[in-house]
Amino acid sequence: MGKISIFSVLRDQYSALPAVDAFKSDLTGKTVIVVGSNTGLGLEASRHFASMNPGRLILACRNVAKGEAALKSIRATTKYEGGEVWEVDLADFSSISAFVNKFESEGGGRLDILVENSGIATRKYALTKDGWESTLQTNHLGTAMLGILLLPYLSKAIANPPTPRLVVVSSDMHFFGKFDETVKSSKCVLEKLNDEQYCNQPIMRQRYSHSKLLNVFFARSLASRLAPQNAVVVNAVNPGFCHSELRRNVPPGTFMSVWMTLMEFLLARSTEVGSRTLVHAALGSPENGKNLHGHYLSNCRVEEESDYSLSKEGREVEERVWNETIEILSKADPRIKEIVAEYLTNTTAPRSY
Ligand SMILES: NC(=O)c1ccc[n+]([C@@H]2O[C@H](COP(=O)([O-])OP(=O)(O)OC[C@H]3O[C@@H](n4cnc5c(N)ncnc54)[C@H](OP(=O)(O)O)[C@@H]3O)[C@@H](O)[C@H]2O)c1
Repeated sequence: MGKISIFSVLRDQYSALPAVDAFKSDLTGKTVIVVGSNTGLGLEASRHFASMNPGRLILACRNVAKGEAALKSIRATTKYEGGEVWEVDLADFSSISAFVNKFESEGGGRLDILVENSGIATRKYALTKDGWESTLQTNHLGTAMLGILLLPYLSKAIANPPTPRLVVVSSDMHFFGKFDETVKSSKCVLEKLNDEQYCNQPIMRQRYSHSKLLNVFFARSLASRLAPQNAVVVNAVNPGFCHSELRRNVPPGTFMSVWMTLMEFLLARSTEVGSRTLVHAALGSPENGKNLHGHYLSNCRVEEESDYSLSKEGREVEERVWNETIEILSKADPRIKEIVAEYLTNTTAPRSY
């Protein structure tokens, strides 16, 4: 069963990951979108994709100026002359709908790789303009919405292994995510997680882990509902503990900030090394990628997700969260319901090992 321990973390952090050459693919004529690609793991993964000459590489960023600077750096370090920066804010449903509208009119009809990498880590409770706690919306609801709205384009991509793929960037922090009695006994899991009264400090301390568990749930739920003839491979990936801007919200001068700096110094993978896991999730196992479908990937291989997520209780919460997510997102964009009806089945297919 999926376990995490100090020993497994140390072993993984100090183990070498394969170089990207091991799963490099010619992306000529293919369209790749990396969400949250102006910095961190998304930027380094985009740099790797750029070196494979994609027909289109779309850096989906909430800050276009930062995205343009990232694209400039990619062009300067690879021979790639393409690349586009498109605006999307995952904490804003209307921005996601606008992004998909643009893809509908300018995207060329098909999408080969979608890497859903954006994420935030904060303990501060703040509501988005859509009325959702910011981590819950950015890391889960926004990620799910963009993934589902782009599913038709991924499904229309010519099955040309290793693509099409949808990668959801999760984390081994999901091992610490487990929903308490208050959430389980509530009418709506996501609304309880959004409730300001409920979101006191101990709860917000777990928010990032919970959001990463929701990423595992989403990738599994989506994968298990895709019709077997649909060639899209969906997975969730853990990049491991890496240098990036993820911990930018840790208040400077606090114990946590000193601890994180020390841990990064001792343990963290470089951003480039961590980004290899994203590229592996998008291109690894080129025969057909099906052995990565519906799985949690870590260290550039399939690994087992947390015991809780695999338990009966975890599966039940997953099912509830899926239904609630579709309900919430359908109100934000009516295309969600249509896509679910056209591309997904009501029943989940068991995962093959
Ligand atoms: N670094 C690690 O140790 C680690 C470990 C496990 C998992 N992860 C996961 O890896 C992914 C990438 O994180 P990272 O470490 O590379 O962190 P990062 O350097 O902070 O990058 C996060 C990216 O997400 C973008 N983003 C944040 N909120 C957004 C929003 N509302 N809409 C669109 N984009 C948004 C950021 O854009 P801005 O720059 O504009 O904010 C940035 O491009 C995350 O999902 C994270 O949970 C990281």
